[in-house]
Amino acid sequence: MPIHYYEQTQTFRIDAGKTSYAFRVGPRGVLLHLYFGPHIPDEDLSGLEFSLGLASFSPNPPGMAGSRFSLDSALQEYPVNGTGDYRLAALSIRGQNGSSATSLRYRSHEIRDGKYALDGMPAVYAGDAAAQTLDVTVEDPLTGAEVHLLYGVIEGFDAITRAAVIRNAGDAPFVIEKAASAALDLPRMDFDLIHLYGQWAQERQLSRAPLTHDIRTIASKRGASSHYHNTFAALAERSADETHGGAYGMSLVYSGNFAIETECDAYGATRAVLGINPVDFAWTLAPGEQFAAPEAVLVCSGEGLGGMSRTFHRLYRRHLCRGEWKEKIRPILVNNWEATYFDFDEEKLLAIAKDAAALGIEMLVMDDGWFGRRNDDKRSLGDWFVNEEKLKGGLKPLVDKVNALGLQFGIWFEPEMISPDSDLCRAHPDWVLCAPGREPSIARNQYVLDMTRQDVRDYLFETISGVLRSANIAYVKWDFNRNLTEAASPALPPERRGETFHRYVLGLYDLLERLTAAFPHILFEGCSGGGGRFDPAMLYYSPQIWTSDDTDAIERCRIQYGTSFVYPPSSISAHVSAVPNHQTGRVTDFATRGNVAMAGAFGYELDLTKLTAGEKELVKQQVAQYHAYAPLVQDGDFYRLINPFEDENRCAWMSVSPDRSEALATFIVPKTRVNFTSCLRLAGLDPDRFYKDSLTGSVRSGSLLMNAGINLSRAWKDGESVLIHLKAVR
Ligand code: DGJ
Repeated sequence: MPIHYYEQTQTFRIDAGKTSYAFRVGPRGVLLHLYFGPHIPDEDLSGLEFSLGLASFSPNPPGMAGSRFSLDSALQEYPVNGTGDYRLAALSIRGQNGSSATSLRYRSHEIRDGKYALDGMPAVYAGDAAAQTLDVTVEDPLTGAEVHLLYGVIEGFDAITRAAVIRNAGDAPFVIEKAASAALDLPRMDFDLIHLYGQWAQERQLSRAPLTHDIRTIASKRGASSHYHNTFAALAERSADETHGGAYGMSLVYSGNFAIETECDAYGATRAVLGINPVDFAWTLAPGEQFAAPEAVLVCSGEGLGGMSRTFHRLYRRHLCRGEWKEKIRPILVNNWEATYFDFDEEKLLAIAKDAAALGIEMLVMDDGWFGRRNDDKRSLGDWFVNEEKLKGGLKPLVDKVNALGLQFGIWFEPEMISPDSDLCRAHPDWVLCAPGREPSIARNQYVLDMTRQDVRDYLFETISGVLRSANIAYVKWDFNRNLTEAASPALPPERRGETFHRYVLGLYDLLERLTAAFPHILFEGCSGGGGRFDPAMLYYSPQIWTSDDTDAIERCRIQYGTSFVYPPSSISAHVSAVPNHQTGRVTDFATRGNVAMAGAFGYELDLTKLTAGEKELVKQQVAQYHAYAPLVQDGDFYRLINPFEDENRCAWMSVSPDRSEALATFIVPKTRVNFTSCLRLAGLDPDRFYKDSLTGSVRSGSLLMNAGINLSRAWKDGESVLIHLKAVR
């Protein structure tokens, strides 16, 4: 049993894989954090809590005058606002008395088998694996708020999931002004904060900097998790690298406004709080109602950042992604976006499909531009009806012809959007998300639909289902090309409009749930102007996500490297595109474009009819390579070898099969140097086995390959790369 309660000391202990976590009921029923780190034996944990209440500026709770106990310095499980702790709060509730001073005391707990689920929201699930849940109830006697602090653990994972469900057990409404999913107090601050920032076409760039005595916030208030910050942060020991050292990874399973805040307090402790962004959030909870904060996943790694990432990869691939496709090798697709943009018709698509079939590509994806009068980005979003000028006779004849060539067919939607110039907008101007009395801001010529409304979601479900039923569609790309503004739904009463952002996300999840359940055979791919909503929650509905609109292979090294901190390779959609690259103008050789894309869910995004005979031969080779290597890449353990954010001349990563009998290493030279010397030290191999490598043909021990490496010193051209396949021979 991984979860224990010790009655005598009122201590909870969770053992998750190689890690342990402990907290106890402290003075006045406050939950005090005791430990999170590498596994510890069953022992007395008293005295670990950290509390200094002697200074008059750190108050004692009522009735504890003169004691050493102050919330202001105590390490806690779920700190609250306004009652003596001046640091970041996890919970702030404004009651009928007009005050947001909040107080929580332990009432009871339950340990049960199985992993909890969250109503209407994505969460890690156990499936067939053994799992347990700890549900601790704390309550605020004044407001009647009853908070269930949920802890989940799945056998074999160094991860603890957390969530908080708040119920109004009182007799008057109150307003939740902040409800984090989890807080983590650690008794030290000698950490680096690692997080992933970015912008459109530059998602998930790596940032690492030491914590100092201040508050840092990684957040979005765009209505989406966003290109700008990812719902992830790690606290890593200063010396932690890819293979060694301690690191705490924190990942929020949420697609909307979020905040991951860290604070180093006066006493040298670190508090991290993660959850829905409290900015632009206020949720009224009437008596009897409940509110669930999204799930947070905490991973403690003693094997550096690589160990942390591999735990996230396995957990998310097996216990967060769902559906028929989650563990299947994904089809090689060709997407027509960069091949044609809006300028296509049936003839053009069939020409691409014919070449695709001849080259061994398995699916044609028809991107933006197939519906309404969509010949540019100025109109028709919301009018999900086939443009018969482009596709004569409709969708079915096209799909049948593509299928007859031996290819599957996929299609693009941007369900949450509405163009001002659309039949939908003319019929339902009130479906545009906009604060009453304001004019909606416009971005890429489009507005956002009010996804909080059931009638909007029903319309989308019916029209999208109609398209999906009209032909043999195997794949859907779900795009989202702008962020929310004026987000206060007129469909809600004024006092509830602070709920709009979160209700929007719940509405999105509701629609995704209905569609994925109704079309279980369809492979869904998430997208938001590239990777603007690449978060764990979207993986629950779509096991792969378009990583970035930047398809330049060299830029992709950094983007995919950063993305790999949390997300499994099987989720990282990556395509070979044309040169000069449409975003950067760079010319990179065909092999490198393939080698970089090979590290994810592989495909093409170019006009196959324009390739030379030589390039077509290379496509055939890449297709064969993908078939040979995809099981290794998608199910293997991923190791980052050379960090392109630190080394502008090199980038490398590798995948190792679970039984360590096979591996695939990728080495890329984004920018060359004279007298280029490099030894690529591998990782994850069995030190005692011998591997033959496909580059030199030599047979060497895993130990030698990991400690000395493969000598790659030679003249390299800018953008050159190599794939090295390793096979254990003894
Ligand atoms: C943004 C996506 O990331 C692109 O791949 C493409 O689908 C365009 N939208 C279409 O508008």
